[in-house]
Amino acid sequence: MSNSEKVYIFDTTLRDGEQSAGIGFTVNEKLEIARALARLNVDIIEAGFPISSPGDLESVAEIAKQVKGPVIAGLARAAFNDVDAAWEAVKHAETPRIHVFLSSSDIHLAQQLRKNREDIMEMARAAVSRAAKYTSDVEFSPMDATRSRPEFVYQLVEAAIEEGATTINIPDTVGYAIPEEFEAFIRSLPENVPNMHKARISVHCQNDLGMATANSLAGILGGARQVEGTINGIGERAGNASLEEIIMSIRTRDDFMNVHVDAKPQEIYSISKLVERASGMTLQPHKAIVGKNAFRHSSGIHQDGVLKMRETYEIMDPVELGIPGGSAIVLTKTSGRHGLQSRLESLGIEPSEDEFQRIWDAFLDVADAKDEVDDRDLMAIVSEQTQIQVQDAWTLDLVQVSTGDHGTPTATVRLMDPDGNTSEDAAIGTGPVDAIYRAINRVTNTENSLTEFSVKSVTEGIDAQGEVTIRVETDGDAYQGRAADTDILVASARAYLHALNRAIAVKNIAE
Ligand code: KIV
Repeated sequence: MSNSEKVYIFDTTLRDGEQSAGIGFTVNEKLEIARALARLNVDIIEAGFPISSPGDLESVAEIAKQVKGPVIAGLARAAFNDVDAAWEAVKHAETPRIHVFLSSSDIHLAQQLRKNREDIMEMARAAVSRAAKYTSDVEFSPMDATRSRPEFVYQLVEAAIEEGATTINIPDTVGYAIPEEFEAFIRSLPENVPNMHKARISVHCQNDLGMATANSLAGILGGARQVEGTINGIGERAGNASLEEIIMSIRTRDDFMNVHVDAKPQEIYSISKLVERASGMTLQPHKAIVGKNAFRHSSGIHQDGVLKMRETYEIMDPVELGIPGGSAIVLTKTSGRHGLQSRLESLGIEPSEDEFQRIWDAFLDVADAKDEVDDRDLMAIVSEQTQIQVQDAWTLDLVQVSTGDHGTPTATVRLMDPDGNTSEDAAIGTGPVDAIYRAINRVTNTENSLTEFSVKSVTEGIDAQGEVTIRVETDGDAYQGRAADTDILVASARAYLHALNRAIAVKNIAE
């Protein structure tokens, strides 16, 4: 148990995250994400903005009924209807929270709300006090706080606390703050708000200048003990602070931050994938913590270091984040001999010194022409440059499928081994491709799980070639296969055999 103070994690993936252009979660997706957030052990889930639509109210109510553990919050503008709708939705929760927000900057007051400061004070007081009649857990946010006159924010915050607010959230609504400035502003609150000790300070940072995580951490250094953000950093415009970055920054640099969080890092990867899928917002490969490349090492010097000791170039353990397979050595033109040697070893290949030199030279040629040299390329290089022969275990001799909307899809396949012997079998499946793959599994006597299947057209017109790319997993390893044909069922069969042959070759060489 840590002696340091706790920072409460407030997730707003389902509210601010859903405000990203192009995102609309279904009720089921929201429930699935909320359950995953509970497993991540966040402290507060902002489940939605109930007044915004009947559907949103319903999904917040469902989350409040079904998801136990975290506080469930609903957002409300400083208006009675909003506060009432928020309560209607969150009242079912074990611990309900109403989050009231109201702009405090001159530009919002003059240009958007057309109100003066007295009006704003009155609206904030009335809305917070109505919320406090429903629940003792009320959060208040002066929107656009970082572009507001600090004196007005202090007065507004003091009034909100007087009316019953227990959390005061300082939003950097348009991502305008600079970390040192934001830290100083948060630090100034207790000195300027006489009743500040009665409420917890929170920070909510947008990423317009790419500083959302830095500002959130600065806010914590300034005294905030709640931090808001979203999974994968989704949100309005350039997004919100990314919670996985904040959680891992606090955990990795607890020596400097001197605070702790209760979130469980081993849930980070799976929830990131869930949000990526449900939101349709694909992560950039170099996204911190959860991007595809976050723990992949490509250059020779880094690979050499990581192979000697992981911590030489990794400050977090990917296994602790639930990332399948952990760190990876990626073979590219910047890779070194140590990286190549280690990959060959893991494939069970131990070339002589001369052979290794030839493999290395051939590898550099291939790497110059390709972004990444995968195991299949490596097998081809090994087979060309050494006495170790890699030959396809099976080739497709025949595939025949019967399918349609009246009957069970059935496939017959005939495969040929390197000696020209053929074997044939048939299977039924949920669809024609499934039937083909089951028939191939029967002939080859293998069990694989298909984890990815995609088909795209590589030429145009009625006689277009369809290219099928698949990924199968066997004994915990993944293999990709690809093939093109004018008949996508034939391409599917060849792509599957392509992956299967790779898997068999790797196994044979290892043996
Ligand atoms: O960005 C913002 O100001 C908000 C508030 C509602 C907290 O999302």
